[in-house]
Amino acid sequence: MRQITLIPGDGIGPEITDAVIKIIGSSGLEIDWDIQTAGSDVAQIEGEPLPSRVINSIKKNKIVLKAPVTTPIGKGFRSVNVALRKKLDLYANLRPCKNLPNIKTRFDNVDIIVVRENTEDLYAGIERQIDENTAESIKIITRGASERIAQFAFDYAVNSGRKEVCAVSKANICKLSDGLFLESVRTIAQKFPDIKYREILIDNLCMQLVQKPEQFDVLVLPNLYGDIVSDLCAGLIGGLGVAQGANIGKDYAVFEPVHGSAPDIAGQDKANPTALLLSAIEMLKYIGEDTYAEKIEKALLKTLSGKVLTADLGGNAKCSEFREEIIKNL
Ligand code: NAI
Repeated sequence: MRQITLIPGDGIGPEITDAVIKIIGSSGLEIDWDIQTAGSDVAQIEGEPLPSRVINSIKKNKIVLKAPVTTPIGKGFRSVNVALRKKLDLYANLRPCKNLPNIKTRFDNVDIIVVRENTEDLYAGIERQIDENTAESIKIITRGASERIAQFAFDYAVNSGRKEVCAVSKANICKLSDGLFLESVRTIAQKFPDIKYREILIDNLCMQLVQKPEQFDVLVLPNLYGDIVSDLCAGLIGGLGVAQGANIGKDYAVFEPVHGSAPDIAGQDKANPTALLLSAIEMLKYIGEDTYAEKIEKALLKTLSGKVLTADLGGNAKCSEFREEIIKNL
């Protein structure tokens, strides 16, 4: 039986994980979940939020399904999510944003793939306090990481029948760093004459996305712009409750929703498990379990077209009721 590392996270993490595991189990697919806890509760007991047992499990299983883990703001330990991406060199953050049935948004035809560089930029975490009134954060952009993410974006475009890749930057202001990012993407673009290549500045992109999102296909961005734009794109398709994601490297892949641990609704059986379920569906496709992935996807889409919906989607169903409706539709 296939073993997969499962990180249930905290906040709403355990509730939505429980729903997704039950749905996958009801589909008939048997998975041996290797459950690995991480986060602040773990830090209190084991002395660190991401103990080596978690990394060892991932190194063994290669594939991870992960729910959100809270990161303390301004102080405390560094993000478990960022640490995982670094330790496993998960250099590509993939966030498909496509309209779902029955989820009313301002736009009908959004189908954007956000490819975010995941390892450098301001997330390198190189910061220092110069004096009481001045802090400094260093933005790192390298040719190697930029070419690698560009290659991923173009490969993805080819393999999924996409037509265009658009590189996003602020190279008019960050001439050296974002300039190097653009130069690197251009180098890779030349190897893909069949994929249209285009460039746009991040500020213009934000405006275009909220006016005419249908014009965009695959976007490739440095880390920080990618982080912000992928939440914006999640908003275009109905919000964080339905936005899936994956962090992919050469050896390992971690599938997780875009949203965080939602402490405001945690423990209330209110959370929408769709984003984690869509991430799990992508994971099943990634490991070659297409038949089960399609079966679960069909049941999810049927459920989303019905009336049993969670509050973020305009309904009044609990997470557990929504889960049962999906299981009924399987
Ligand atoms: P958040 O994504 O947790 O919540 C933002 C808003 O969206 C809240 O109103 C929340 O109730 C709602 N929401 C999020 N997911 C939902 C779902 N599945 N169903 C229904 N409503 C949902 O963002 P926030 O509040 O900025 O972050 C909370 C914590 O999560 C922070 O500690 C942050 O660092 C962490 N975080 C972890 C991530 C991860 O593990 N990959 C990603 C993003 C944030």
